[in-house]
Amino acid sequence: MEIIIQPNSQQASELAARIVARTVREKPHAVLGLATGNTPLQLYRNLVRMHRESGLDFSGVTSFNLDEYVGIPPAHPSSFHSYMWAHLFSSINMPRERVNIPDGMTGDIPAACRKYEQAIRSAGGVDIQILGIGTNGHIGFNEPSSSLSSRTRIKTLTEETRLDAAAAFGGEEAVPTHVITMGLGTILDSKMCLLLAFGKKKAKAISLAAEGPVTAMVPGSILQMHPRAIFVLDKDAASDLKMADYYVWINEHKPDWQKY
Ligand code: PGA
Repeated sequence: MEIIIQPNSQQASELAARIVARTVREKPHAVLGLATGNTPLQLYRNLVRMHRESGLDFSGVTSFNLDEYVGIPPAHPSSFHSYMWAHLFSSINMPRERVNIPDGMTGDIPAACRKYEQAIRSAGGVDIQILGIGTNGHIGFNEPSSSLSSRTRIKTLTEETRLDAAAAFGGEEAVPTHVITMGLGTILDSKMCLLLAFGKKKAKAISLAAEGPVTAMVPGSILQMHPRAIFVLDKDAASDLKMADYYVWINEHKPDWQKY
């Protein structure tokens, strides 16, 4: 795995946007795996800017979001559907029919999950999967104890995750208990994983995911098994990494062709 430490979240998000933009330029029919939450907001702002200022073209792109809350309709202000339209899709030229987000209102969750997996396969697989990480080490909504080879399915949120989401719902009681999420096996199938983490709050999860053992108790640690996983961190999120100096040194000594 590659660990890139930037001075702040702004620079980290600019770098992440360059990686995503490069994928889209090299492959106009790229398939993007998208995440929600606070972390990718600046990345999406950068992509919108690149679309406006330098014509970054999303007209051939397909996207699959990681997850959605069960029982929350797309129009709900805290749904991940609403988030994606507010922060990205309304401001770029990606055709609506190529946007895929799990349907939290489906009457048949197992069938909808199978269909989601099938749609990812039919699209040719995810070229670049954007990820955040929970304070408990989850990626997507794969909470600790998730099977390391899980596929898209229903999950029950931990109390920690529901607390982290409380602000968006105006209180913990209003946070749904269940979600549909791509599995760890689904995420591992993507060609590249780009995980972003900012702030001291994420330092422990990052050190466990990057430098701890691979374990279902830290779902993000499965990325150690991925051939192309890139962690883009700010200084605070990297502050518990034992080998931080080495990662910085690697980045400073990259040959030009390896730079993003
Ligand atoms: P955050 O969430 O970006 O809002 O911190 C990340 C996550 O829980 O995966």
